[in-house]
Amino acid sequence: ATLVSRRVKSRRKWNRVVGVLRELEEGCSTSIGRLRQVVDAMAVEMHAGLASEGGSKLKMLLTFVDNLPDGNEKGTYYALDLGGTNFRVLRVQLGGKESRIIGHEVERQPIPQHLMTSTSEDLFDFIASAVKEFVVREGDNSGLQLDRRRELGCTFSFPMKQLSVSSGLLIKWTKGFAIKDMVGKDVAECLQQALAKGGLDMRVATLVNDSVGALALGHYDDEDTVAAVIIGTGSNACYVERTDAIIKCQGLLTNSGGMVVNMEWGNFWSSHLPRTSYDMDLDAESPNPNDMGFEKMISGMYLGDIVRRVILRMAQELDVFGDVASKLSEPFILRTPLIAAMHEDESPDLVEVSRILKDTLGINDIPLKVRKLIVRVCDVVTRRAARLAAAGIVGILKKIGRDGSGGVASGRSKSVGESLSKIRRTVVVIEGGLYSNYEMFREYLDEAVAEILGEEVAQHVVLKVIEDGSGIGAALLAAAASHPSTSVAH
Ligand code: GLC
Repeated sequence: ATLVSRRVKSRRKWNRVVGVLRELEEGCSTSIGRLRQVVDAMAVEMHAGLASEGGSKLKMLLTFVDNLPDGNEKGTYYALDLGGTNFRVLRVQLGGKESRIIGHEVERQPIPQHLMTSTSEDLFDFIASAVKEFVVREGDNSGLQLDRRRELGCTFSFPMKQLSVSSGLLIKWTKGFAIKDMVGKDVAECLQQALAKGGLDMRVATLVNDSVGALALGHYDDEDTVAAVIIGTGSNACYVERTDAIIKCQGLLTNSGGMVVNMEWGNFWSSHLPRTSYDMDLDAESPNPNDMGFEKMISGMYLGDIVRRVILRMAQELDVFGDVASKLSEPFILRTPLIAAMHEDESPDLVEVSRILKDTLGINDIPLKVRKLIVRVCDVVTRRAARLAAAGIVGILKKIGRDGSGGVASGRSKSVGESLSKIRRTVVVIEGGLYSNYEMFREYLDEAVAEILGEEVAQHVVLKVIEDGSGIGAALLAAAASHPSTSVAH
């Protein structure tokens, strides 16, 4: 009798755990209907954010970048890319129309955790000294003298109120950074001071968001590039907008008639977003509650932690996890690359999943069927993220009339076929580990974009991975700012 009752009990437990998964699946549902609502909401919020300051949770920030690099840029430029898990220093050699990018060197360094919450002086002194070391290491064979003045493009991946293409005030921190004295300060000035203090003759020629850097490189490589999306630690997008559509800034004039707008889409919000109790808990316990809601559902900093919360919930129902109060309750212990590795474990008995559970969480001997359940959780959370990001991208295309719905067909009555054939080739570049290293994420995103747009329109839309775009792009923009050419944005 006890054996039978034990079996019944364990079946009940199992059913409850499966119930947790089912509930998660429902809560994360991204049916095509819902994705379309998100597309529309994104386009509507973009309008609202452009109409007035504070008109939307989408800040739609001006960047003062009105000329995107076109290939004529020449010379050696430096770039500094700050704002994710790593920071990078780059040197880029540009050879003009014929030779394009002759070469580039990149040095990556993790940002020491304590600097993310210390003072602006500590952070920038650290960065300036890394830049200096990089320059000193150039050595003699670079043909550059140490005392020569250098031009630097700085990428700073946080929301800034730009005053010009080379200055901007930090609006707020995101992605776990929290240096209080920095908010409201001019980032370029802080960096410039630190560089001078370090005895380096370097001029901050441009200050841009990482998405803007990515767009610059995208456009340099392919002039049909109209938008850039970052899906890494954080998530964001920027695109080229017509100045007359930027209503909140009346009288804005640029040579090209356009300007790159940094959407800060991480802060996008809509009641149509499929939100679960795990998202709400994560948000409430984050350093920036009620902020960056979209980013918290789709970006690399958070996906792992959503999965951790679901597994923790399951662990409360099942005994197989051992002491629940173990490492599983530690926020952010399960990083997104581990989610990817578990999700993509193709071994029949999921050895990689076992290994990760053991090494990271100290949980041994999880039965295969529970390991399978965990893989499902990774799938549900990642798929939702990828599909929502896809809806965001289509929202941008809709706003600029490249989604095949308005614009093209709005003239005299044309056959659908005729209208579709007129859709211009449209390139969106995507940068960030989630899209470039996590194959399942990429597949889900690509698939969803095609699903929402429909096959015919999707043919004209190219989603392209780029690497180091935010850094190289900043160097390109520094070059363009030093020698403005006559190139035009769209
Ligand atoms: C965060 C930042 C944003 C940045 C993005 C990607 O959302 O607020 O400025 O572009 O992360 O790094």
